[in-house]
Amino acid sequence: MSYRQKHLLAIEGLHPPEIGHLLDLAESYVLLNRTGKTQRDVLRGQTLINLFFEDSTRTRTSFELAGKRLGADVINMSVSTSSVNKGETLLDTAATLNAMHCDLLVVRHDQSGAPNLLAQKVDAAVINAGDGTHEHPTQALLDALTIRRRKGRLEGLIVAICGDVLHSRVARSNIHLLTTMGSRVRVIGPPTLIPTDAPRLGVEVFHDMDAGLAGADIVMALRLQRERMQRGLVPSAREFFRFFGLDAEKLAFAKPDALVMHPGPMNRGVEIDSAVADDAQRSLIREQVEMGVAVRMAVLDTLARRHGRND
Ligand code: NCD
Repeated sequence: MSYRQKHLLAIEGLHPPEIGHLLDLAESYVLLNRTGKTQRDVLRGQTLINLFFEDSTRTRTSFELAGKRLGADVINMSVSTSSVNKGETLLDTAATLNAMHCDLLVVRHDQSGAPNLLAQKVDAAVINAGDGTHEHPTQALLDALTIRRRKGRLEGLIVAICGDVLHSRVARSNIHLLTTMGSRVRVIGPPTLIPTDAPRLGVEVFHDMDAGLAGADIVMALRLQRERMQRGLVPSAREFFRFFGLDAEKLAFAKPDALVMHPGPMNRGVEIDSAVADDAQRSLIREQVEMGVAVRMAVLDTLARRHGRND
């Protein structure tokens, strides 16, 4: 088996064979899911806890579905961070989870690094389901699977990631995965929403959509993450849409067969126009959700096998 980690905390640091293994296994789960069958023996007798300190629709439900399809006992814990002290709560929670003999722990937290901290304190294999502005590894894997299935490869493709890159853990994980697998990644957005370290991440930076989208194979739109903005970094949603919102006119700068992606949740009319989001020929948004279940099955399967062997 080529995946060597106990946990899945980040894409950064993974090697191409590890990513390739997860994508290949996910591919087989796409086929299984389409037959309507399950494989409940894979995680039979294992306990999966979904620990979400932040809102989620797609990610939480797809981890739940993935765990159930593989036969795990799944428990959902939603915790509010508003009234509690971060460090104390996390460590208390870790002790509780250890006492419950949890095997797989899926964590989402608004603080970057929280899943890493938990991974040091619990016996379970930990999966990062999004931490602050740091990483969202399973999202990058599902995006890569979606692209690979449609384009047949990742290597050599031009992928343009547009909008609020600064606050996006999805963008960070995608940048690491896609550059590791040989894609050419561009980020496009106003200077206030592009991280200052972008060039060090091996991406090209653009501040206007026409130039950034020219020749792109894949165009990924990101939500304006206002909840993470300390102050107004964009003048108004209307103005943002005018310059950076993905509509048919701007998409025309990309390759004629360019495909459109969005991790969800979408703000229609802000970062993406409804006509583009709902265009069945160009939009992969629904397919991304389908791939999300298969990718999470592959990750749970892989970590459960490694975990079992190490203990
Ligand atoms: C993203 C997230 O939470 O990081 N959503 C997701 O998991 N599909 C992106 C976002 O919130 O905009």
